[in-house]
Amino acid sequence: MDPSLSEIIYCSRASHTNADPIEHKIAKIVAVGRLNNERDQITGALLFAGGYFAQVIQGPTEALERLFARIGTDNRHHDVTLLSRGTTARTFPEWAMGLTATGEEEAAATVLLARAVDTGDAALAGEIRALLRQSVARNLIWG
Ligand SMILES: Cc1cc2nc3c(=O)[nH]c(=O)nc-3n(C[C@H](O)[C@H](O)[C@H](O)COP(=O)(O)O)c2cc1C
Repeated sequence: MDPSLSEIIYCSRASHTNADPIEHKIAKIVAVGRLNNERDQITGALLFAGGYFAQVIQGPTEALERLFARIGTDNRHHDVTLLSRGTTARTFPEWAMGLTATGEEEAAATVLLARAVDTGDAALAGEIRALLRQSVARNLIWG
């Protein structure tokens, strides 16, 4: 495995800080994020479910850490909870920033993300990566 290629998986709660509806916020996040991620050779997917975000990002370690630092100070979400950080292969090679939502399994996904944000339990990272892979393959909104 390429030691300079890293992955970060985190969850957070979407903020209700101003009048801008969540759909607009997400559209802006994806539009900017996609360009930045293409520039920085970062790939991954962002899931929005039941007021929670989960994101997997993979790419060159330095660029990835710079991105995660920006994400951590973004007031469009809060309780940013790191679940896993490590060396990886690219398991989301197709998308600079695939945006996805869950289908009928939304309730189960929301319970999982809520538990991840509340506990920061690293054991949930694998489950969340699998959920993102599955839902981005089935229900890619923008990528
Ligand atoms: C849930 C969430 C996910 C985000 N994902 C990304 C991302 O993958 N790439 C990115 O560049 N910015 C992402 N952002 C936005 C960053 O926090 C930041 O606003 C942006 O990178 C600043 O880009 P700029 O310096 O080009 O203006 C995300 C923000 C949120 C709230």
